[in-house]
Amino acid sequence: MIYIKTEEEIEKIRENCLLVSQTLAMLAPLVKPGVSTKYLDSLAEEFIKDHGAEAPCKGYHGYPNATCMSLNDVVVHGIPSESTILKEGDILSIDLCTRKNGFIGDSAYTFAVGEVSDEVKRLLKTTKESLYKGIEMAVAGNRVGDISNAIQTYCEAAGYSCVREMVGHGIGKSMHEDPQVPNYGRRGQGPMLKSNMVICIEPMINIGRYPISIDPDGWTARTRDHKWAAHYEHAVAVRKGKADILSDFSLIEKALES
Ligand code: MF3
Ligand code: CO
Repeated sequence: MIYIKTEEEIEKIRENCLLVSQTLAMLAPLVKPGVSTKYLDSLAEEFIKDHGAEAPCKGYHGYPNATCMSLNDVVVHGIPSESTILKEGDILSIDLCTRKNGFIGDSAYTFAVGEVSDEVKRLLKTTKESLYKGIEMAVAGNRVGDISNAIQTYCEAAGYSCVREMVGHGIGKSMHEDPQVPNYGRRGQGPMLKSNMVICIEPMINIGRYPISIDPDGWTARTRDHKWAAHYEHAVAVRKGKADILSDFSLIEKALES
């Protein structure tokens, strides 16, 4: 069942999404060689609490932390760890949610740790661009498959593959609502998009092949071929003509420049 949000509800989701973006912006300058992913997670958790919100990932089906910290060949759901220390040339995808005023916000961004290879730069650029290709299709009257197909077409044309087992989703009072928003699919297929649906579009894109496997910890989703993956996520409200993007990467990118 797909919930259509009121304007007031969308504003509450936006408030959370902006807090997620602020949290990612706070972390951005600290994503540096020598730092552990657990340290970044602790800072994020504290920041979220200091802003009067909760971190709903913690405890979600037993997930142990406030954030997901996915390094290199980890696609999503990497568990922050004291022993995962960032090195020059790595890439780190940080995915987190906040909850306040009864609603949830969700966004993710992949950071380069210091200078990364040209091959990896191209992966990050293409994955982020594919997110906006998907968002262009998130308008009333289109179908979910139009978003999926736009992402798939863009990434496969660049020689990458789109993860199958993990998908985007509706969001609201719950972190995961209908509809599912795959990063591959056919134009004109899937549920019809209507104004004031709120969905998370989150391309998870691999340099190599698309299959993933889950580590023995039950969470860490890694590419089977161990080639690297990127992940960018925005929550958007579907509108007539043009989607309203609720999270804001410009906060993160400003923090990275300074
Ligand atoms: N932001 C993630 C998503 O879109 C949620 C992380 S799963 C959790 O699915 F278990 F870590 F919370
Ligand atoms: Co999500």
